[in-house]
Amino acid sequence: MTGTPPTAGTPTPRRTVSIAAPVGEGAIDSFVRQKGRGVILALYTALRSIKLYPLENSAVQKALADLAALAQEFVASEHELDVRVSGEFIFVNATRLRLDLDNYASFSHVLSVFRVCGIGTMHVADVVTARDWQVFLTIVQVPTSLEPHDRLTEVLAKLDAAGVRTLALTPPSDDDGEDRERAKERAKKTYTQSVTVTKDLMTSVRMGKSPNIKKIKRVVQGIVDQILNEETSLIGLTTIRDYDEYTFTHSVNVCIFSVALGKRLGLTKLQLYDLGMAALFHDIGKSRVPVDVLNKTGSLTEIEWRQIAAHPWLGVLALFQIRGTQEYPYRSMVVAIEHHMKADLTGYPKPIRPRQMSMYSKIVAAADGFDAATSRRAYQTVPINPAEVMREMRDNPRRGMDPIVVKAFINLTGIYPPGTLVVLDTFELGIVHAVNPLPEMLARPLTRVISDPMGNLVHPGEIVDLADRNPDGTYLRTIIKTENPERYGIRVSDYFV
Ligand SMILES: [Fe+2]
Ligand SMILES: [Fe+2]
Repeated sequence: MTGTPPTAGTPTPRRTVSIAAPVGEGAIDSFVRQKGRGVILALYTALRSIKLYPLENSAVQKALADLAALAQEFVASEHELDVRVSGEFIFVNATRLRLDLDNYASFSHVLSVFRVCGIGTMHVADVVTARDWQVFLTIVQVPTSLEPHDRLTEVLAKLDAAGVRTLALTPPSDDDGEDRERAKERAKKTYTQSVTVTKDLMTSVRMGKSPNIKKIKRVVQGIVDQILNEETSLIGLTTIRDYDEYTFTHSVNVCIFSVALGKRLGLTKLQLYDLGMAALFHDIGKSRVPVDVLNKTGSLTEIEWRQIAAHPWLGVLALFQIRGTQEYPYRSMVVAIEHHMKADLTGYPKPIRPRQMSMYSKIVAAADGFDAATSRRAYQTVPINPAEVMREMRDNPRRGMDPIVVKAFINLTGIYPPGTLVVLDTFELGIVHAVNPLPEMLARPLTRVISDPMGNLVHPGEIVDLADRNPDGTYLRTIIKTENPERYGIRVSDYFV
């Protein structure tokens, strides 16, 4: 596993897409998908080069010529080319393109440009010349403060004025808002079910009973499917971090973060199932630690600390007793034993021989460290600000985090992870909602503005994009600092459920 997350601001190298159609049943779909990816990648490369270089530069001209050629080839064989964006997805004709590590930067960028310009569908039915593409891609990148709906009207007027009539742009359909609501509801259901099943799991282990492994598998599959389809809602729910239900919500949160990280690092769906199970089980050994020790608020005695520090290997023992699987869950066992070892092996338990921590353990350790530090627990009354935790994980080697995993984490949540309370330069308060889809805007997340400039709270408040600019190019809003929600009597999770 050597995949690295996309680096902010670096244009993805262009790849030549073979246009020869594969033969056989079901091949049409993959043909459209493959060629569609090529078109989106070319669109992205052209957008980036126009932004970076003067129009007459040969890189710009080549990117435009490539885009025109690819789109034309597509139309020639498929009769039309429709690029439609909906939620976090891009569809080419009726086929949804798969998002993966290779195309992450390009897809997010194109999605964001469409969203900002209020474009739902771009219809290409004709031969679009390189010059037409140039006009279109230049217009859509002019900074603006207009709302998407008005922006689209402006873009259409400018295209018309420039004589470009080969591209038909239409706004997103009305179902989009409904889709988002439905996705949010689905995420809530997945989350609550996962907490209930985890609770059953931990309780059965505590009572020496064998837990229902089928139910657990179903829950993990639910989480993986949701992360692959629409991860924003589920990531938002990790801000719940319920104090009373800490052990259960913590396991579910670690599972959600791990799967989302695994996806960023290029794991396959089957690997994600495996990783999700291991993440959900990582603290199962805590079911064998006395509850009063786990929930103790004061400082721990030497003996009590040893009891807690035994949970990694107690977890392995518990996993040996989980029946219902054909073979022992070895990967989960490795994660259970390794998740507190730290990358430099200075954690616990101390390994007897030098060892290389497994990739799954590195992922779960990062997800675990992040969720634990940002939660309020018995022995940590004040949760640490998510943005500070992320910075610590990146900059303090004593945290023992794997740098590649942390980098993927920052790509997932941004520098200000969802749930961070921030003060904006407009003196408004905001709660970070989701990472900015533009990879170079990791410090400018989508943020819910929850107060007016005087500090009067508004609920639920409007979600704004901190990458939005004034016509003069300055940003509308910028984060000046992060704040502790308790100081303002704010419960962050209220803004996500
Ligand atoms: Fe643990
Ligand atoms: Fe944990």
